[in-house]
Amino acid sequence: MPWLWPKFCWDLSSIGRKEKVTREYLQNFMDKIVEERKSEILENWNDINLKQTNAEFEKKGKDSLVALDYCLHLQLRGNTEFTDRYIRDLMNSAILAGHDTVTAGLNFALYLLAANPKEQAKLHAELDEVFGNDQDRNVESSDLPKLQFLECCIKETERLYPPIPLMPRTPENDFELDKDCVVPKGVDIVVTPWVTHRLPEFFPEPEEFRPSRFFPENCTGRHPYAYVAFSGGTRICMGQRCTYVSAFL
Ligand code: HEM
Repeated sequence: MPWLWPKFCWDLSSIGRKEKVTREYLQNFMDKIVEERKSEILENWNDINLKQTNAEFEKKGKDSLVALDYCLHLQLRGNTEFTDRYIRDLMNSAILAGHDTVTAGLNFALYLLAANPKEQAKLHAELDEVFGNDQDRNVESSDLPKLQFLECCIKETERLYPPIPLMPRTPENDFELDKDCVVPKGVDIVVTPWVTHRLPEFFPEPEEFRPSRFFPENCTGRHPYAYVAFSGGTRICMGQRCTYVSAFL
């Protein structure tokens, strides 16, 4: 609806007003989480601070803290870039980027497994091998490396139905795509995993659901950007590993 593109039209429309209310709700919710966690850290701050110099924190802190705590520690150690608002926005990006994508991927995975009973049976066999008859036990982190076929099923699902099917870009400089094509700077372009993932030179019979395409021996020699469900290069998805863990669970 191009008439909604100008900001003042969007702000006045019913959908724009609904977006504003929803955004404020979400931001207030995340502000509260940041504030509460900061108070908890501050309660023990003297102890923590005395125990670790900045250099020690830089060396060890990254590995031992969850993302929110790490950002708050940076702020409390005097890093002015990490304001409450900046931390809130970082957390929102991580949480929002990781929810809809994983949920959409899982829905498509269930659909594809239902439509491909042979692949479903292979997955069932893997799950039986790892969990035996105990269907009620929690998944342990030690189970994850054993669920190789499950990982391939998820990759293959995201090949066929990439949760982010379009990635817009605007190059800052002219760049040569290949010998016949120079993309001028400032032109809007769209990278489409949906299309790339269906190129038969990389994925023969591309419409078929074949998790075995992602067995390590079948990936050898494939172009590194043939599979871009998680993007690539410097803006590659930060949650790729986390996706497999949450999807497995
Ligand atoms: C099936 C699951 C997922 C898919 C398919 C996916 C895909 C992508 C893609 C294609 C991008 C790049 C978008 C662009 O450059 O235009 C991206 C970025 C990002 N993803 Fe994911 N993602 C998934 C799950 C997650 C999870 C679970 C998290 C967090 C825990 C996450 C966090 C992020 C963040 C923070 C960025 C922005 C990175 C940056 O711009 O530097 N994603 N993701």
